[in-house]
Amino acid sequence: MNRWFPIETKRLLLREFRADDEQDIHAYASDPEVVRLMIWGPNTPETTKAFLAGVLKEQERWPRPAVGLAIELKKERRVIGGIDLRVKDEKNRAADVGYVLARAHWGRGYMVEAARAILDAAFRQIGLHRVWATCDPRNRASYRVMEKLGMRREAHFRKDVMEKGEWRDTYLYAILAEEWLRTGRSGSEDETKGHQRDRRARDSGSHI
Ligand SMILES: CC(C)(COP(=O)(O)OP(=O)(O)OC[C@H]1O[C@@H](n2cnc3c(N)ncnc32)[C@H](O)[C@@H]1OP(=O)(O)O)[C@@H](O)C(=O)NCCC(=O)NCCS
Repeated sequence: MNRWFPIETKRLLLREFRADDEQDIHAYASDPEVVRLMIWGPNTPETTKAFLAGVLKEQERWPRPAVGLAIELKKERRVIGGIDLRVKDEKNRAADVGYVLARAHWGRGYMVEAARAILDAAFRQIGLHRVWATCDPRNRASYRVMEKLGMRREAHFRKDVMEKGEWRDTYLYAILAEEWLRTGRSGSEDETKGHQRDRRARDSGSHI
């Protein structure tokens, strides 16, 4: 299939990363508060450099099973976070979504806006059947994003992850294509305008 991004929403541009995004990425990836409940970080400058080099290399490949997009704040023309859609179960057309946002931009609905556009592409353009996401149960902001998207909490795993020196629990949320398309959580037209192509859902095949 053709690339289904960049995607423009009301306030954001979801696009591939560029070499000159390094400082913006490092600003959030090195913030201990941002990564406190995540399974990576805080980044050193070397980690961010290596991460970005890996992403830029991976972007040369198409199709690919996982797509990571920069979240650019249109009014500032800078990257304030990232969002990933990763096909992890090709046979069952299932993917997970993951996201991160710079602290200065929390609480303004940016991640709901970004994730809504990604789910809409996942179901309407890529033709996925199910999308799931996980987070630490202490990460209220993260699971509230999932809930606002209409995702359902399907599991609470006990102490399944060893991270930052402790066993952590995991919430798992998911949503099916039929639920997404039925409930119309995809939002208004003006939130998903622009580059998003109006292509019908199709079998995603092995890659997205
Ligand atoms: C999780 C995250 C992406 C949410 O992004 P966001 O754009 O701030 O989220 P939204 O503005 O769309 O709001 C979603 C909900 O989170 C709440 N929220 C936002 N920041 C919060 C904070 N610091 N503490 C508690 N709740 C918060 C909002 O109030 C809202 O819930 P409500 O509707 O019940 O009020 C962002 O907080 C973040 O990047 N956190 C650090 C990285 C991370 O944890 N990523 C997810 C890993 S699973």
